[in-house]
Amino acid sequence: MGDTRPTSQFHARNIAASNVERLVGALDAQDTNDGVRRLRAWAHAALAVRPGERAVDIGAGTGSQTRHLAAAVAPGGEALGIEPNPGLRSVAEQRAADTGSRARFVDGDALTLPVPDASVDVVWCERVLQHLVEPDKAVAEIARVLRPGGRVALLDTDWATTILHPGDPETVAALMSGALSAAADPYSGRKLVGRLSAAGLVIDDRGSQALLQDHASVAWPLIRMLGGSAVRRGLTTEDRRDRLYAELTEAAERGALHMSVTMFAAVAHRPVRSGNAEPEYT
Ligand SMILES: C[S@@+](CC[C@H](N)C(=O)[O-])C[C@H]1O[C@@H](n2cnc3c(N)ncnc32)[C@H](O)[C@@H]1O
Repeated sequence: MGDTRPTSQFHARNIAASNVERLVGALDAQDTNDGVRRLRAWAHAALAVRPGERAVDIGAGTGSQTRHLAAAVAPGGEALGIEPNPGLRSVAEQRAADTGSRARFVDGDALTLPVPDASVDVVWCERVLQHLVEPDKAVAEIARVLRPGGRVALLDTDWATTILHPGDPETVAALMSGALSAAADPYSGRKLVGRLSAAGLVIDDRGSQALLQDHASVAWPLIRMLGGSAVRRGLTTEDRRDRLYAELTEAAERGALHMSVTMFAAVAHRPVRSGNAEPEYT
């Protein structure tokens, strides 16, 4: 059994019933972000899911990508969302029912997938590894459940790529250090390829997208959370933080604000024969 210690707010055990609504709101907002949509479209194209295939979405959240996979495997295929949080799982089930999707959802953990060996054609795992204490074990699980030739798409954020402009660089760095503590592995995005290779999977392609915030308005809930935390931890002073807030407000008013974080993706497959340079898979 792997290490399932709660880490971030998105760790299944940290999500209290009262928080589910807020997290659903956050996931819904991310669903509409242009960068997220582009990176998902790229990853789905690279996976090229076919009718009749069996697909698994690990850490399915509200199930938007499980529903996408369910449409792609129809007719005859199966799309299973694995989601350990009961609140998110019931939202995913309700949305599938409301939209007539054949996506199914089950309880389960990325470290011990409730799926037999070599039984899956396609795995999707988006923004989950960053929340795990043992992400390498989760990728080894993915390799276990993929059939030879089966494909996987990993998508994740790299929080060290966060940019906030304008502002005094030291004060900005103080705020951004809070973003780094928001995940168990804030550098997950840059590690996707290494993790897949270490699990014996073959990299097919890589992609990335900067997730841009609106340049005409400050993302105040996030900025205030990071600013409050930086002051409490003694990383900056109230004066410097407030000066940064004023600069951001002024920049937003003239449409000159830049706030972004980069998400990375990697698509790989399980070789048909382990230990081969595997020219036989096409
Ligand atoms: C940021 S959300 C991403 C949800 C969805 N994949 C998406 O991109 O919209 C992280 C998800 O990982 C799930 N999660 C957290 N710990 C997990 C674990 N050990 N095994 C499987 N899923 C987990 C959470 O419950 C949550 O649904």
